[in-house]
Amino acid sequence: RTSFVQAPMLRPDSIGIDPVNGAPVKYFSVTEKAASASILPRLTTPILGYNGIYPGPTISVDQGTKVVLRVRNQLPTTHPIDGHLLFSSTHLHGSASLPQFDGYASDVTNPGFRKDYHYPNFQPARTLWYHDHAVHYTALNVYSGLAAQYHMHDPLERLLLPQGEFDVALTITDAMFARNGALGYDDSDQSGLWGDVILVNGRPWPVMKVKKRIYRFRVMNACISRSLRPALSTGEAVTIVATDGGLVPVSQRVASWRHSPAERYEILIDFRRYTTGQRIVLRNLSNKNNVDYDFTNRIMAFDVVEDTVDTSDPTWNTIPGQLASDNEIMSRQPAAATKERKFRFKRDDLTGMWTIDGVTWKDVIASGFTKVAANPDLNDVEIWEFENSSGGWFHPVHIHLIDFKILSRNGRAPFAYEKGPKDVVYVGEGETVRLLMKFGPHRGRYMIHCHNLVHEDHDMMVQFRVGPADE
Ligand code: C2O
Ligand code: CU
Repeated sequence: RTSFVQAPMLRPDSIGIDPVNGAPVKYFSVTEKAASASILPRLTTPILGYNGIYPGPTISVDQGTKVVLRVRNQLPTTHPIDGHLLFSSTHLHGSASLPQFDGYASDVTNPGFRKDYHYPNFQPARTLWYHDHAVHYTALNVYSGLAAQYHMHDPLERLLLPQGEFDVALTITDAMFARNGALGYDDSDQSGLWGDVILVNGRPWPVMKVKKRIYRFRVMNACISRSLRPALSTGEAVTIVATDGGLVPVSQRVASWRHSPAERYEILIDFRRYTTGQRIVLRNLSNKNNVDYDFTNRIMAFDVVEDTVDTSDPTWNTIPGQLASDNEIMSRQPAAATKERKFRFKRDDLTGMWTIDGVTWKDVIASGFTKVAANPDLNDVEIWEFENSSGGWFHPVHIHLIDFKILSRNGRAPFAYEKGPKDVVYVGEGETVRLLMKFGPHRGRYMIHCHNLVHEDHDMMVQFRVGPADE
């Protein structure tokens, strides 16, 4: 058992004022580099990390503060695992960024160069993450360590949910290791990568000491391919308070939830009812279409250490019912939609490529990036239907730029835990989901892809364009 750690918070290099509108701007920088991490006992693991750590440093900002993130690529010229040429592209997943700052797959930065990414941060509080998005190598680069959380706060969320020590990031990944501690990688049939070791914040199955309070966990699945189904060993429910796009309208009690790569669920766990010395395991019940190993049925554990219950801060000790009751994404109605589109996610039998309506990112490249799967106008409201009728796979589908509401899953209501604003939807084998979204506030081209990153790289990614083509 290893002890629990959290990634360090990244400090801004400087703070300024936006000359256009007087808004505060925070300047951050990270350096992508090769480093070695202590993950397994007595061994070191070569990684690629933001500032050389795995996962990378957490960025925390308030809504309304702009961010300029300078990403310096000081990676080696070739990847330590497969020797491909190492370029990078950084995507802030969960942010409505302008197209030129969205980590577009082909907008790459080579070793020795850097890029400044501008993030608007006008959206409500949420858990975002920044990760590599380099075309055809996202899986290897993220697996090697280029992933980190990014927290956006706002006044409502600060009022309702635990902060500081009781607001805890859990970045969950899976990995396989060679005898010498190096990361193993095997996606030979290009269907995914399933490691036999579960890491939380870069530590295998860690144990966290907790006080008798209510804790908020920002649970993020940063696995390349594996989906999770977390549940407490006590059988007690957890309370879902936020999804990918922030606070849910009404909190939901669930005994477990299905959690695909790239989804974020914020949960509350109430440790007041447990006794000092008690250990509670966060288990991982199994989902269809994963590869499970002996110890992938658990994630981490909590040891209850303190006997006194502090009642001084209500946010540490109350479970809110109502949260974001006037959320614009969740109160939108299907009648507002002016168009409906269907997308089919399947593997091409002949080529083995993963396709969206028969189209791959290679086709988009071949078109000179003119080929678009959808072309809504700015502020159009649409219903999108995703269908995964092929057997054997689930696809966590991510739409850049926008947050959506899940209208239905196989004609029925979505699961209790996904009744909140989302940017990734779990499309399980044989499932059809219907989503409602509004396109904006930016025009331009944005990606849609499967967040099983092996599927994304082989080539389950297309793009949509908001508004007319640039001249
Ligand atoms: Cu989390 Cu297009 O990515
Ligand atoms: Cu997929």
